[in-house]
Amino acid sequence: MMRITLLSTLSLLAANAVGAGAQSQTHTPPGCRAFPGDIEWPSALAWKALNLTVGGKLIAGVPLGRPCFNPGASQARCTALKEHFTELEPFTEDPVNVMSPYWQNNSCSPFLGPTGTCSLGNLASYAIKVTSAADVIAGIVFATAKNIRLTIKNTGHDFLGRSAGAGSLALWTHHLQEITFFRFSSTGYSGPAVRLGAGVDGTDLLPAAKAAGYRVVGGSCPTVGVTGGFTQGGGHSPLSAKYGLGADQVLEYDVVTALGIRTTASPTKNPALFWALRGGGAGNYAVVLSMTVKVYPDGPSAGAGFLILNDGDDTKYWKAMSAWFKHLLVLDKIPGYMTGFTMGRDFLSLAFALLPDTTSVTDITAPLQPFFDELATLNVTLAQNSAFISPSYADWYTSWAVPVAYGTNNALGGRLVPRTVVQNNLPALINVFRDIVEVSTPEIEFSVINGITVNLTTKRIGNAANPGTSAVLPAWREALFTLNFGIPFAANAPVSTLKFGQAWINEKQSKLRAVTPGGGTYMNEATFDNPNWKQDYFGSNYNALLAVKKTYDPLGLLWAHSAVGSDVSWKQRVDGRLCKV
Ligand SMILES: Cc1cc2nc3c(=O)[nH]c(=O)nc-3n(C[C@H](O)[C@H](O)[C@H](O)COP(=O)(O)OP(=O)(O)OC[C@H]3O[C@@H](n4cnc5c(N)ncnc54)[C@H](O)[C@@H]3O)c2cc1C
Ligand SMILES: *[C@@H]1O[C@H](CO)[C@@H](O)[C@H](O)[C@H]1NC(C)=O
Ligand SMILES: *[C@@H]1O[C@H](CO)[C@@H](O)[C@H](O)[C@H]1NC(C)=O
Ligand SMILES: *[C@@H]1O[C@H](CO)[C@@H](O)[C@H](O)[C@H]1NC(C)=O
Ligand SMILES: *[C@@H]1O[C@H](CO)[C@@H](O)[C@H](O)[C@H]1NC(C)=O
Repeated sequence: MMRITLLSTLSLLAANAVGAGAQSQTHTPPGCRAFPGDIEWPSALAWKALNLTVGGKLIAGVPLGRPCFNPGASQARCTALKEHFTELEPFTEDPVNVMSPYWQNNSCSPFLGPTGTCSLGNLASYAIKVTSAADVIAGIVFATAKNIRLTIKNTGHDFLGRSAGAGSLALWTHHLQEITFFRFSSTGYSGPAVRLGAGVDGTDLLPAAKAAGYRVVGGSCPTVGVTGGFTQGGGHSPLSAKYGLGADQVLEYDVVTALGIRTTASPTKNPALFWALRGGGAGNYAVVLSMTVKVYPDGPSAGAGFLILNDGDDTKYWKAMSAWFKHLLVLDKIPGYMTGFTMGRDFLSLAFALLPDTTSVTDITAPLQPFFDELATLNVTLAQNSAFISPSYADWYTSWAVPVAYGTNNALGGRLVPRTVVQNNLPALINVFRDIVEVSTPEIEFSVINGITVNLTTKRIGNAANPGTSAVLPAWREALFTLNFGIPFAANAPVSTLKFGQAWINEKQSKLRAVTPGGGTYMNEATFDNPNWKQDYFGSNYNALLAVKKTYDPLGLLWAHSAVGSDVSWKQRVDGRLCKV
């Protein structure tokens, strides 16, 4: 490896001396995307021309860990980076770097410098800082003409590596920051709405919505992009038990198709594309510039939370856990009542419950009381318990959702749990939960299960929940809750551990699948290499989505792991290069 690098460097130098740089390079293998180092890879001049076309907004991809490596290592910058490397912000504000350690692949880990290699790995080679439709079109035209991979990066939260891609040109959408509240009028809906640029996240949206007197469905973590992976993949929110998923809110999209055509996707214009963009998976059908979603009048919001600790008596603790899951069937019937909980081998934390539009705290606490009474009969005490009213949704969010610590150094899997499983087969479900959280392998320090309860039935959220209205996985409508389970990685975990963790998660996902027939999985909180991805992530929508993919992206420009059609177009090689299947 070392030898080849050295040799090619030497021959490059020699070639440069005689003014013919291409001689030492190799051709792109037939049927593959051009890759850095290939003769076919765009020349410096071609990149310069693209840069001119996009008004100087072309950025060369640089791994965040670069300052930790020679040549040019800076100890001060490296130390500062290490301190924040497992936090979200360095990644949300960067054009190419993504959060998931699996996709970082230790290619330029700040914990491995200053000697050794620092390469881009899965990260895009270049990014266009998108501020207009013309930038997107320029990127699409360039990638198509030069036969290079195109990726779309917003905040880089994606667990499936869908916002990264080796040797790609990235469209970096995070600077599309429009937030405009207005009155929308159409045959299907007339009322308040907001147009959101593709780069808007919860941090920007929450205060803007509060100031305008509205609530908007966005994620539990404020740094998740609203228009990107969240809404296009489904999007669960603390507000979902009242209004539905993110995808259920969309009125129209402003897009550039994979063929470089700017258009609208709505119930009347490109309706099949509109359908697919609502829950059919991110970054696979078109590049979204902005979306218009329904908004709702703001008002007081009740919050509650509690903590239960395992005092060492596992039998007692798991009886309490069973009681909690049964009680979710009761909470499920209360309009708007939402819970977000975390369960480990030693604790159950109700991180937040939300009941919008009440000024009476007992409205949120009284429904929990039967569960607390049951805990008392089990001799389980609450380590913490609190509840209060916030004047607005944004205030509720700041009190309850923001304190939840989100890190980047993890991987996760997930499953939607149908109501019928909790009703009829709870002991088997609990056994799998125990298997997940009572992890006993040295590679994995601990494991927790997060649950988000969502009642997304037609009865609750109206017409948006009807089959066929959107490409949201139908299993969401039958789910009592969606769960994700995550494992942490040490900041300096070797690639072998990252791979071990990924396989461990897939194995547990299979166990969950076995006890939750018909359950499905929320594709955004899942694995890229789940062998049942088609059924689990898309269900009965798969074939119709494939037809949309073929219509709007006939050349297969957009590709992502476990995206519709990904298995019949390109295959990613070990070095990250895409080659035709
Ligand atoms: C800490 C954390 C908390 C989370 N909390 C929640 C939550 O509360 N609810 C929830 O539902 N999910 C949650 N998720 C999952 C989240 O929805 C996904 O990670 C999602 O893919 C993030 O989308 P993004 O646009 O922010 O990120 P990115 O990683 O930048 O993009 C994700 C995908 O969207 C595509 N994409 C981005 N922008 C566009 C665009 N303009 N047009 C077309 N495609 C685009 C990308 O190509 C990629 O495929 C969470 C994830 C993390 C890491
Ligand atoms: C693109 O042009 C701008 C402005 O001239 C420059 O600052 C930037 O470095 C260029 N990008 C690349 C990748 O060369
Ligand atoms: C990921 O790392 C492995 C070595 O651990 C390497 O073989 C592979 O090429 C890397 N992938 C990318 C895309 O850099
Ligand atoms: C309840 O649990 C405590 C320990 O947490 C124990 O001391 C006590 O005896 C238990 N009481 C009953 C009735 O089981
Ligand atoms: C879902 O919510 C509706 C309306 O609030 C409620 O009537 C129903 O019982 C809940 N659960 C199911 C399974 O429909």
